[in-house]
Amino acid sequence: MSKIDKYINQIIQGDCLELFKDIPDNSVDMTFADPPFNLKKKYTSYNDSLEFQEYLDWCEQWIFEMVRVTKPTGSIFLHNIPKWLTYYATFLNKYASFKHWIAWDAPTAPMGKSLQPAHYGILFYGKKERGTKIYELRHPHKRDRKQGYLLKDYGGKKDKLHPFGPLISDVWTDIHRIKHNKKRDPHPCQLPIHLLDRLILLSTNENDVVLDPFSGTGTTAISAKRLGRKYIGFELDNEYVEISKRKLEATEPNFKLGNSWVSFYLNDVITIRNDDWNELKEYFVIPEPIKTIDLKKTVLKDKKLIPKPKEVVYKTDDICKNIEPKKAIIGKNINFSKDNRIII
Ligand SMILES: C[S@@+](CC[C@H](N)C(=O)[O-])C[C@H]1O[C@@H](n2cnc3c(N)ncnc32)[C@H](O)[C@@H]1O
Repeated sequence: MSKIDKYINQIIQGDCLELFKDIPDNSVDMTFADPPFNLKKKYTSYNDSLEFQEYLDWCEQWIFEMVRVTKPTGSIFLHNIPKWLTYYATFLNKYASFKHWIAWDAPTAPMGKSLQPAHYGILFYGKKERGTKIYELRHPHKRDRKQGYLLKDYGGKKDKLHPFGPLISDVWTDIHRIKHNKKRDPHPCQLPIHLLDRLILLSTNENDVVLDPFSGTGTTAISAKRLGRKYIGFELDNEYVEISKRKLEATEPNFKLGNSWVSFYLNDVITIRNDDWNELKEYFVIPEPIKTIDLKKTVLKDKKLIPKPKEVVYKTDDICKNIEPKKAIIGKNINFSKDNRIII
């Protein structure tokens, strides 16, 4: 058994810097981090700068570890607000090779009175300049919500359009945070799972290993598992670890059409690999002739091909004391109360 085997498909409770020590160099295919953003209010300039530098010094340590454990063909992704990503890029430029800055169009916390922040960044680095596994992806054409026609004006070129949709760029506008209970703040940190699906399809293959050092409630691990990848998650908070384990037990590697792994969201396929289209097209009704795609959508022939989300019941006694037991659906957000207790 190699040293990494005992960590495969596990969510481990602990401090990521400690746990990283056990992961061998060049052993995972993709690392993804969504760390705490350190947005606490600061009251004196002294503390301010101290916290600022402490936060960055700490970040540099785990970023270094992420690069170390990533294979030479592997990718490193860092999610944060642009402010911190500018520092992360400075560290990463020393150890790895820049590929893209992905702008994820999602409202973020107001930060003063200048420009309203409207995107998170995801830094995408390859461990090496050459040989990084990267796959072209496609997403469905964007359409007007009410009328259903294509938002982009392709003029006389509609007969040349790809039936599924365009290649994905480095600006992602089609993935939204889900708010289920409008009366409560959603957890500010839990990411939409189809965001992770997209990153995993972009940079890994079946059975590859995906590591997330700030696993939270297991979004990266669940995405990896349902896409037939292996996962390793580190998480400090025991409650989150328990929730992740429950959700993972109920997750199956079933995000597939035929032999191709795809990302489903609600009633649609929302990310595919370009290379898979030849095999995937038999599962879709494609508008004929293709120029009628302006008003007709390419749709799945049979919606039963979409895996049904499973319900997971969390018990209050062993996870969230003082909170009534409720059911959660895998892939949907968990809400948090003001004092950060989990409400599911
Ligand atoms: C921004 S959240 C990640 C949320 C996650 N992406 C999700 O979708 O559920 C950051 C997480 O890092 C955890 N964390 C903070 N410091 C940590 C450390 N030193 N080691 C491991 N986990 C840590 C926090 O408990 C929190 O759950």
